[in-house]
Amino acid sequence: MQIPSKVEQQLRQMADQGGTLNCYVYDTTAMRKKITRLADIMPAGVEIFYAMKANPHAEFLRAAFEAGARGIEIASLGEAEKAVAAGFNPGQLIYTGPGKSPEELLWAVEHGIRTVHIESLTEAHRLNIIASEAGVYQDILLRINANFDIHEAQTTFSGGSKKFGVDEEQLDDVLPQILALEHLNFRGLHVYAASGVLNVDDLLKNCELVFGMAQHIEDEYTGAVCDTIDFGGGFGVDYLERGDDFDPQAYADGLARLIEHYGFGGRTFFLELGRYLAADSGWFCTEILDIKLSRGKKQVICAGGINHFRRPAALAINHPLAVLRMFRAPLFDGQESVRDESVYFGGPLCTGADKLANDIAVEAADIGDIAIFGLAGAYGLSMSNIEFLSHARPEEIIL
Ligand SMILES: Cc1ncc(COP(=O)(O)O)c(C=O)c1O
Repeated sequence: MQIPSKVEQQLRQMADQGGTLNCYVYDTTAMRKKITRLADIMPAGVEIFYAMKANPHAEFLRAAFEAGARGIEIASLGEAEKAVAAGFNPGQLIYTGPGKSPEELLWAVEHGIRTVHIESLTEAHRLNIIASEAGVYQDILLRINANFDIHEAQTTFSGGSKKFGVDEEQLDDVLPQILALEHLNFRGLHVYAASGVLNVDDLLKNCELVFGMAQHIEDEYTGAVCDTIDFGGGFGVDYLERGDDFDPQAYADGLARLIEHYGFGGRTFFLELGRYLAADSGWFCTEILDIKLSRGKKQVICAGGINHFRRPAALAINHPLAVLRMFRAPLFDGQESVRDESVYFGGPLCTGADKLANDIAVEAADIGDIAIFGLAGAYGLSMSNIEFLSHARPEEIIL
């Protein structure tokens, strides 16, 4: 990984001021460009939402807002409040996620959010009661757990037994009951297959399956129209630096073909993207505090671990890594260093699970250098074990 010059400059400036360096650096230029480009290349009717769980920092929400994202995919009341604080109006919010509380649903109907994505029959009934008491007719999408699994994806959201949505096999049992709920306006389907997908054809297969379901519903249920279809998120990024980035143009072309084939022009299609938009706008930068040789393996110990950057350990993958050389004087003769070898990176926590990178090739590293983990703009600090061992929260620096 190349260290962007702006990031390096920032880190050197901070290092000059002294103190142990441990922070996230954000530059949302890439995110803004991606939103603009997707809006340009996607077929008519496609609307881009930012899945803010990827990074709820105000700077990322501002980037989504200023770059013209259609709205925000939220999965909690806290996310809703942050999105509104960033300038989005509630009518630009779409609400997904299993286990929405009655208070959260009440907020959604009272504030007129665009769509609530129903994850179960219970949730449909709960929302219907809340909407009817509030005198509101709420637009909904029904989330389906498709009988389809993308095996090589990092995380799957459909296929097999899942807590998300209603199993595809139960659709014909559940849908008539939902259509009968007077205060819910059925607008269509939400089927999110998997996260971190690099193969465009896998995600297009998901689109095709959803179109098939929509067609089935319209054939079988008089008056039911799927005018809005949400394909979820899932565009992957190239963590392993193999050069196989997700190709949004190929996806746009494939989706256009499917829309044409199914005669679905004029409908609305949601993409709720997190990782693809946010990942390359953030770097986790943490000072190397110690290097030791343990039974033949070098262990590099950094100021922050899974308390600040949990994703590599949680997903058991290495993020791109670069070492910013600081050339500090050694503390003693014979101090360990790393030279052209594969080593292990971890943080300061008292758990063996505190791993930042495993068996990763490093050209050179010394104590006092800064380890920089790339593609850390998505699912970085917000999915970390921030309270564990009560270390200071890392600063989040905006370039
Ligand atoms: C409902 C929903 N939508 C969108 C996303 C964003 O997914 P990704 O970051 O893979 O684009 C997620 C991630 O968990 C999700 O659960």
